[in-house]
Amino acid sequence: MQRISDLEAWRDYAHAQRTQGRHVGLVPTMGALHQGHASLFRAARSNGDLVLATVFVNPRQFNDASDLAAYPRTPESDVEMAEHNGVDCLVEPSLDAMWPDYPDATPTTVSVRGIGDRLEGAGRPGHFDGVASVIAKLFAITGPCRAYFGEKDYQQMCVVRQMVRDLAFEVDVVGCPIVRDVDGLAISSRNVLLSAEGRSRALALSRALALVGEQPATASEHRQRLEQCLGEAGVATSYVEVADPVTLAASNDDEVGIRRALVAGVVDNVRLIDNAPVTLRARNS
Ligand code: PAF
Repeated sequence: MQRISDLEAWRDYAHAQRTQGRHVGLVPTMGALHQGHASLFRAARSNGDLVLATVFVNPRQFNDASDLAAYPRTPESDVEMAEHNGVDCLVEPSLDAMWPDYPDATPTTVSVRGIGDRLEGAGRPGHFDGVASVIAKLFAITGPCRAYFGEKDYQQMCVVRQMVRDLAFEVDVVGCPIVRDVDGLAISSRNVLLSAEGRSRALALSRALALVGEQPATASEHRQRLEQCLGEAGVATSYVEVADPVTLAASNDDEVGIRRALVAGVVDNVRLIDNAPVTLRARNS
């Protein structure tokens, strides 16, 4: 496995691979690599891509300094994990290389209005500006590629897709299914911060989603059930929403068909998110 930290070397590497006929599969990460990331590496590999993974804890997407400080960092095991899961090139740029102005604001920020303002965006102002800006930079350096994102961060994937459409990046965004532990908890780098008791409470998110996934209901009924499940488990709910799977606009009770249910809550001071498809039935059926 090749390791690169220099931005120009990374750009040259990706360009050289394309010149040799390879398709580049980009997997952006913030490290603390786990089975969810491994599934993205495998998806890229099974598409025949040259797998280029980036590890960069992007401070611009944290609106809370203590959240940034607590974010898990496991550089040694990241290298092993990448190596054993088919990564061809691991890019670990420095903060100075990515954001030379930090902690001052960069003059250029990418904002995806609408999708980026809702849900996570409403609770974490500036979060998606930070995500879109860093992803735009990763795309600009990597060049034409397929980029792999986990559906665990469903809104992030929608924001990136919108940005790619609007700014005409030569990038195919590939969404990959959520990877869950055997108990149903969606795998996330933040899970290591949960106590044993917190972890069992956190299961309410996946259980609530599994419950509403079982039978069609109106958007309001789905929301009520989700709220009730999270409330009963003692999860401090940040939001529950049933929304259009592309724009994430909130669904109303006149809609029918497949939508996305998204939930967020805080357990042990750890922010948890999860989502799943749900079916909307007609109001009086
Ligand atoms: O999902 C993440 O780990 C991050 O938000 C990403 C996509 C690597 C951007 O920093």
